[in-house]
Amino acid sequence: MSITKAIFPVAGLGTRFLPATKAQPKEMLPVVDKPLIQYAVEEAYDAGIREMIFVTGRHKRAIEDHFDTAFELEHELAQAGKNELLELVHSIKPSDMECVFVRQPKSLGLGHAVLCGERLVRGEPFAVLLADDLMVGETSVLKQMVQQFEDLQGSILAVQEVPAEHTKRYGIVAGQMQSDRVMDVSQIVEKPAPEVAPSRLGVAGRYILTPAVFEQIRQQPRGVGNEIQLTDGIAGLLRSEKVYAYRYEGKRYDCGSKEGFLEANVELALQHPQVGAWFKQYLLGLRLD
Ligand code: G1P
Repeated sequence: MSITKAIFPVAGLGTRFLPATKAQPKEMLPVVDKPLIQYAVEEAYDAGIREMIFVTGRHKRAIEDHFDTAFELEHELAQAGKNELLELVHSIKPSDMECVFVRQPKSLGLGHAVLCGERLVRGEPFAVLLADDLMVGETSVLKQMVQQFEDLQGSILAVQEVPAEHTKRYGIVAGQMQSDRVMDVSQIVEKPAPEVAPSRLGVAGRYILTPAVFEQIRQQPRGVGNEIQLTDGIAGLLRSEKVYAYRYEGKRYDCGSKEGFLEANVELALQHPQVGAWFKQYLLGLRLD
């Protein structure tokens, strides 16, 4: 079975980025010249996924608009003969990509957001991408996971080693390494303190999950932060099914934090075909002390 659908939970309030997120979704914050959500959607598309399911909330219309036709803009670009820009605008939503929007009526947590996509997933394994984790890899991270799924045929969580003092920010997994990069997970805990964390392998915002996770999410009591946690649903899942952790090749920018967001902007700007060379010279010319 292959992965054809992805859920993007985008209903969060983005309070860590106020005031920028007062009237716009945090997923629309641009890294260099592209909104975070577009990086995640492109990653899913590159992994062969064509059905994008956005779990949205109030104030998220900008995301729907971003993946819709912009008639006036396209008309003007066409009239002005600005074909390159027109192509750029069209490429945001290739014609074989479908976007579906479903509302999360209340902010009850990530597990609840994923549950809102249940009906649209129609009983198939699916991917979950958290857009504020911007992932960069020579082979995109979700594509690596989809390739792993072809062999493993079970749920797969992207993981990376995190500093001990950061275990409180992540779902932390433990288990048996099967190979260099693949772990057979026996335990997962949401945001443990370093003293009780079962390892230092933290979950990054990329998941491939089997549909059995929905029932597990429903059965869990509220978890950390009094929220319905995806991690708790996965903890339930691994009692009845194999769950794997995959140490991906690539880099994660935590664009939910100002530090990670700035790192992403600087590093991606340096690689940008239009402004990269100029930006490097600019940085070299700054007198930092
Ligand atoms: C969520 C998950 C957590 C995961 C993290 C990755 O937490 O609950 O398990 O490690 O995403 O970014 P959040 O960052 O939404 O608090």
